[in-house]
Amino acid sequence: MRVFSGIQPTGETHIGNYLGAIKQWVKLQEKHECIFCIVDLHSLTVPYPVGELQKRIKEKTIAYIAAGVDPKKSIIFVQSQVKEHTELTWLLSTVTPLGDLQRMTQYKEKAEKYKKNINAGLLNYPILMAADILLYQTDIVPVGKDQAQHVELTREIARRFNKKFGETFKIPKALLPKAGAKIMSLVKPNKKMSKTDNPQSYIGLFDAPEAIKRKIMAAQTDSEKEIKYDISQKPGISNLLTIYSLFSDISVKKIEKQFKDKGYQFFKEKLAQLLIEKLEPFRRKKKELELRSGYLEKILTEGRKRAQIIAQETMKKVKQKMGL
Ligand code: TYM
Repeated sequence: MRVFSGIQPTGETHIGNYLGAIKQWVKLQEKHECIFCIVDLHSLTVPYPVGELQKRIKEKTIAYIAAGVDPKKSIIFVQSQVKEHTELTWLLSTVTPLGDLQRMTQYKEKAEKYKKNINAGLLNYPILMAADILLYQTDIVPVGKDQAQHVELTREIARRFNKKFGETFKIPKALLPKAGAKIMSLVKPNKKMSKTDNPQSYIGLFDAPEAIKRKIMAAQTDSEKEIKYDISQKPGISNLLTIYSLFSDISVKKIEKQFKDKGYQFFKEKLAQLLIEKLEPFRRKKKELELRSGYLEKILTEGRKRAQIIAQETMKKVKQKMGL
């Protein structure tokens, strides 16, 4: 089985990205052929500081490895370095109905957020994502819930292409974690935790212990006292319970029991302690990697070369099928 996934080099990597995506990647690489991409082309669709982009790509490379992606087992590469991604995007755009793109939730949200910059790239974004996935004849796409709709569209594009031009692409499947597919903001627990929001709303994978403690203690909860999972009535505490459960490998039920009558403050203190402890190895690994630029570059060069071989093979097939 082949696995493909990616993260945009926008803001900091947070525990939502980890629990929704990277944690699954780390497990999958033990048994499958994994390809993990830093999707820099996607990140150009919203305003970004041009001079910072290379630094952000390096940071993401570090985040992948520090969180457990093993470059000996998995391919890690930068999307813009394999030109087949943009080439296939154009070809796939000719079989993608405009209406399908316009109804994408992420497009609608971003068009609302960046009213002054609704560029065509923002609309075409899912076609580039489909190209990423289909180029590698991917079986499994481990992602968080917010990306499931894009994977569904990718399947639709692949089916349509295969029907029109003959069997060309494998039909991929999204893989969402059972719990943690949508970690919520600490400030507004009805909204997804997002790396482009205020840092107070997320726990960065490399946050210092003091910052973790401060953010968890300030996390939005309700005015009750009971530590109980109830996503509609108590979204804040439910989100914290999910986070506790996923980092401790203890079920939510057991945690509820363990903290019965203990109050929110005590629970938050324990959660902060847990996160500080569990994220410590990531912080340590990041520090080490920051000093090894040559090593990181080698990984990305090697990754690009390996990715390119697969991508070129698919492109050759696609062009042939399309009569080019
Ligand atoms: P991006 O960069 O927004 O997010 C990276 C991954 O993290 C997951 N995620 C979350 N999971 C749980 N809770 C959250 N609060 C949370 N926030 C983010 C996302 O679902 C994603 O898996 N378009 C993609 C990147 C991409 C891609 C691809 C992914 C481009 N090409 C091909 C898979 C395959 C994106 O913007 O993810």
